[in-house]
Amino acid sequence: MKVLINTLHPVDVWHIPEKYAFKLKKDFPEIEVVYLKSKENLLKEIEDTDIYFGWYPGREALNHAKKLKWLHTPQIGVGRFLSIEGFINKVLLTNARPVDRRQIGEFAVSLFLGLHFGHNLIVKNYLEKRWARKEIGDFFLSKKRKPLKEMTAVVLGYGGIGKAIAEILNNLVKEVIIVKRRKENLPFKVYTLKEWKEYLPFADAIFIAIPADDTSKHFIDMEKIETFKNSPYIVNVGRGKVVNEKDIAKGLKEGKIGGYATDVCEKEPPEEDFPLWGFDNVIVAPHISALEPDFWDKHFDFFEENLKRFLKGEKLESLVND
Ligand SMILES: NC(=O)c1ccc[n+]([C@@H]2O[C@H](COP(=O)([O-])OP(=O)(O)OC[C@H]3O[C@@H](n4cnc5c(N)ncnc54)[C@H](OP(=O)(O)O)[C@@H]3O)[C@@H](O)[C@H]2O)c1
Repeated sequence: MKVLINTLHPVDVWHIPEKYAFKLKKDFPEIEVVYLKSKENLLKEIEDTDIYFGWYPGREALNHAKKLKWLHTPQIGVGRFLSIEGFINKVLLTNARPVDRRQIGEFAVSLFLGLHFGHNLIVKNYLEKRWARKEIGDFFLSKKRKPLKEMTAVVLGYGGIGKAIAEILNNLVKEVIIVKRRKENLPFKVYTLKEWKEYLPFADAIFIAIPADDTSKHFIDMEKIETFKNSPYIVNVGRGKVVNEKDIAKGLKEGKIGGYATDVCEKEPPEEDFPLWGFDNVIVAPHISALEPDFWDKHFDFFEENLKRFLKGEKLESLVND
């Protein structure tokens, strides 16, 4: 039985440290563990791999994986795997849904508070060595700045991330509204995307923690922005494509949006023509909010538990193609 760990990701911070391959070898001595360090060997190594752990390796590599029985990805979104015709019928596919993602929710709330309390303005003046009491004071005095305790926050998504956001906000704002695909009984009012006229116009803050699929792509666009009554802050930790960035820029210029803070962009990394460069009330983080010291510990603990199930012929947890 061969496990291939594909550490390769275009961005270094997402490389899987080799120590986890050593740990896997120690914990499962009966298994051959291959830790793939260079792209050149991918096609050769994946050919006789039984179990794959890692990032999306590309269509060509997956077509080479003749013996593959189980593929585990440390991501939540598996759209690219599913887009390969027939793949889902041949291979067990698991994702990282059960792995704790609370920090992403905490980060989202920190972005919201950063916008509300003018962190951009404070940092900008600090970097210019200015004690800008008048400018920042005026911002704090602005009538548009509703107290948190009077705000209505709309959270798109109630998975690992959205639930964490909602739970923290519940102690901060007047009301939290949840938007998801399926209605269910929650301690919050629940709507679907389609019912947006019921909640978006009245929101003071909108949090995005859903994927960009056919129904959510460009969900926040000019048609919806025009209806905003309270210049809401928008915080995006889901996917860049859930908003139309050009429309967000227009909404910010027209004062229809109070601020935009995001960990994700429509195109990553954003290029010179990114419509959101240069705003005082925009925060752009480089898609890092999932990273925390025990990130890989948590992912490998989950993988090892699933590996034990696999070896015993039991059903895997977090199967996408159940
Ligand atoms: N910033 C980052 O680094 C980072 C990291 C991980 C994930 N993400 C993104 O954040 C998203 C949420 O992550 P998660 O871990 O919370 O995912 P999750 O546990 O899979 O939960 C997804 C939530 O979004 C809802 N949803 C999905 N599609 C929807 C749609 N079209 N309309 C309305 N609601 C929809 C689901 O509704 P139901 O409950 O009704 O199914 C569910 O509540 C992921 O899909 C991913 O794109 C970003």
